[in-house]
Amino acid sequence: MKHFFSLFAMGMFLVLTGCLKQNTEEQWMNDPKILDLIQQMTLEEKMGQMHQISGFGGQVPDNLKQDIIDGKVGSILNEVDVKAINEIQRIALEESRLGIPVIIGRDVIHGFKTVFPIPLGQAATWNPELVKKGAEVAAKEAWSSGVNWTFAPMIDISRDARWGRIAESCGEDPFLTSVMGVAMVEGFQGDDLSADGSILACAKHFAGYGAAEGGRDYNTTLIPENELRNVYLKSFHAAQQAGVGTFMSGFNDLNGVPATGNRFLLRKVLRDEWNFDGFVVSDWASVTEMISHGFAADPKEAAYKAISAGVDMEMTSDSYKNHVKELIEEGKINERLLDEAVYRILKIKFDLGLFNDPYVQEEDQNRFALPEYLEAAKQAAVQSMVLLKNEQQILPFTSSINKVAVIGPMANQKYEQLGTWIFDGDSDLTITPLEALKSELGESKVLFSEGLKYTRSKDKTGFSEALATAKKADVVVVCVGEEAILSGEAHCRASLDLPGAQNELIEEVSKAGKPIVLVVMAGRPLAIGGVSKHAEAVLYAFHPGTMGGPALADLLLGVANPSAKLPVTFPKAAGQIPIYYNHKNTGRPVDPNAWTCIDDIPLNSYQTSLGNTSHYLDLGFAPLYPFGFGLSYTTFEYKNLKIETPKVKLGGDIIASVTLENTGNFVGEEVVQLYIRDLVGSVTRPVKELKGFERVQLKPGESKKVSFKINTSDLAFFNPEMEEVTEPGEFHLWIGGSSDTNLRTEFVVE
Ligand code: BGC
Repeated sequence: MKHFFSLFAMGMFLVLTGCLKQNTEEQWMNDPKILDLIQQMTLEEKMGQMHQISGFGGQVPDNLKQDIIDGKVGSILNEVDVKAINEIQRIALEESRLGIPVIIGRDVIHGFKTVFPIPLGQAATWNPELVKKGAEVAAKEAWSSGVNWTFAPMIDISRDARWGRIAESCGEDPFLTSVMGVAMVEGFQGDDLSADGSILACAKHFAGYGAAEGGRDYNTTLIPENELRNVYLKSFHAAQQAGVGTFMSGFNDLNGVPATGNRFLLRKVLRDEWNFDGFVVSDWASVTEMISHGFAADPKEAAYKAISAGVDMEMTSDSYKNHVKELIEEGKINERLLDEAVYRILKIKFDLGLFNDPYVQEEDQNRFALPEYLEAAKQAAVQSMVLLKNEQQILPFTSSINKVAVIGPMANQKYEQLGTWIFDGDSDLTITPLEALKSELGESKVLFSEGLKYTRSKDKTGFSEALATAKKADVVVVCVGEEAILSGEAHCRASLDLPGAQNELIEEVSKAGKPIVLVVMAGRPLAIGGVSKHAEAVLYAFHPGTMGGPALADLLLGVANPSAKLPVTFPKAAGQIPIYYNHKNTGRPVDPNAWTCIDDIPLNSYQTSLGNTSHYLDLGFAPLYPFGFGLSYTTFEYKNLKIETPKVKLGGDIIASVTLENTGNFVGEEVVQLYIRDLVGSVTRPVKELKGFERVQLKPGESKKVSFKINTSDLAFFNPEMEEVTEPGEFHLWIGGSSDTNLRTEFVVE
């Protein structure tokens, strides 16, 4: 009898766990209205939901109308004409059999009409509130044009300045990128996706895309799983936890498996481990590009691989549309896969409120570039410009400066200063540095000579006029950099020098003997070490967007004080790449101050006489500027670094503080940064890792105790078994104004 009961109990247990398992699997597909719709859908209609096409430039041609009526289009990207969008939605709602709205996508990357600094510049603000505001403004403007979905934030870790898409990224650091990515998701999506002005965000490009070999776009990425999890996936996990609605699979081949057909990424990590409940869209034709990768023989196999991996919607290519039905009929894929994808897509359409009201006002003239939006764009630009040098306090200009010469090919380029990905940006709104300085100082105080017509120009005929102009002024502002087209997707460079004859222009202008302020507007870190020696001050403005001019004028004139910090390490030359602050130590680290430069090596030197350490003979080891670096017009002193928890148990908090004093003469804001190093790990740990930061404003003479609290869980990393663990042991902790801070203390995790 006893035996019978135990068998019975065991049987019940199995039945229950079986049910439970099935329930958990299906738990997320529990919305009756969506299930009801799916039940009514034909295979063609399901495939339609998974199909995204490109728009027709404001037209709604007959074949598009018919496709929408037939339920063959789930989403359209690149349509921003309000009338066309309203018509598309009307047809979808009123004329298609099931009345399912279309979702309208667009790359709204750093602004819609009002353009904010490029994401790399926004990351330089180290100000998530401002970044969130930027995304909010972009969302409002795009939403009012009928856009429901942006393909942003781009949160690929980018450690290679040659890669054009570094401009779109938040730089090299997983922590900073996570914070900024989350701020963007919150700004785009708001608290309620269905609210006016909220749009759906998309975390892209999942994953590892930023590690493209040689910095050449679309190139192979080889990232060990451990490194992938510890570095490249962190920002994506943060975005998922912040509720991002969609993910985009990358173009890249990751460890031999294209990201768009990568079950490990899309099923194991994203769905099984993270429980992502939004949907995944491919990148532009990245499903059929798996044929070029040599991963699929034809579109049918590409569709099979993408859909089985977990890509719910195919962007622009037709492999789902043409082959999924066949794949189901042949029993290669289960219709259940389609139902899951369609469920996710429909759920988001409901969340966006598109079933209720997908329409926007056509005649609303007050939706773009409101004063409040322009002000936010200006603040973002002010806080994005990094002061790299300011000898003899040449900045800010004092009232003794009577005439300012503005020189250079980026001084008055309304379009170029907006940067990459500004499909809808309105360059008529742009205020250039020249315009802003004239309006602040008066026409008569500002002289102008472009020197070069555009940044790539090698035509030096304007040099003599530029030099003559410089001679007439008290100070010279030289605006150089890269045109917008030189960075962004597919726009990679092997050299990081200023393009064209810009170096020569700076040298020429320096012959006037006047103090030079070098302003660099670019989409990537440039190797400006050589030319910056001709300048007393250097402001790195990235591409600052619509309000770049007024922001720069405020900084030059001291209305605002620089507070930006580099979100990425600046190499001395492209040959130093990859170079990033959170590297591993190696077995033979170099002492950055003790190496023999190639010029000083004695003749007939014995092979080991230089010491065998990890560095370049010609460039040493240190970068041009370290991650986190940026000056202010005032000076800050860090002192009294204290660790309140020198010993902490696993699960406990680590509390550390520092006193920050404004020791200069200006009110200023400092980004106080906290770094740690885990001295010994089951996998080697970086020499420094950012774990916290805070913006602090101080008046001259004022000081403040700045405290940080992190948990031992913040020290966790993936071990060789791919478990996320915090390992007990010794740690170093630094607090300072950049990643090369030396103010250090220790703690032990027990
Ligand atoms: C880019 C994506 C972008 C998509 C749609 C692709 O070429 O890689 O970042 O969102 O196009 O425009």
